[in-house]
Amino acid sequence: MKLFYEKNIFFCTNLRKEKEKISCGKHNRQEPRNYMEKRVKELAIKKIIVNSSGCLNRCNLVPIVVSYPEDNWYKILIKEDISSFIDEFLIKRRIFKKNLKEN
Ligand code: FES
Repeated sequence: MKLFYEKNIFFCTNLRKEKEKISCGKHNRQEPRNYMEKRVKELAIKKIIVNSSGCLNRCNLVPIVVSYPEDNWYKILIKEDISSFIDEFLIKRRIFKKNLKEN
């Protein structure tokens, strides 16, 4: 089956109101998510969509990013991580070094 998007990248942006509970949203996830979306458009990488998501139930690894259909999980913290992710995973189609699949 041909996929409409070859890759869906989800940044968990869930922000819990309870201060004592961890959540990805406490790590300012909207900014890196927007930066990745902007770079994907600027580089004209086709068939990729960058989305926000609610809690992905891997809160022990916050902040978390997942790519489908591969089901690869990442901890992407800074702009340099995003640049490497785009270059390695989205352009060269290699495994990105920050893959957390083994966790
Ligand atoms: S809040 Fe992000 S994985 Fe749960």
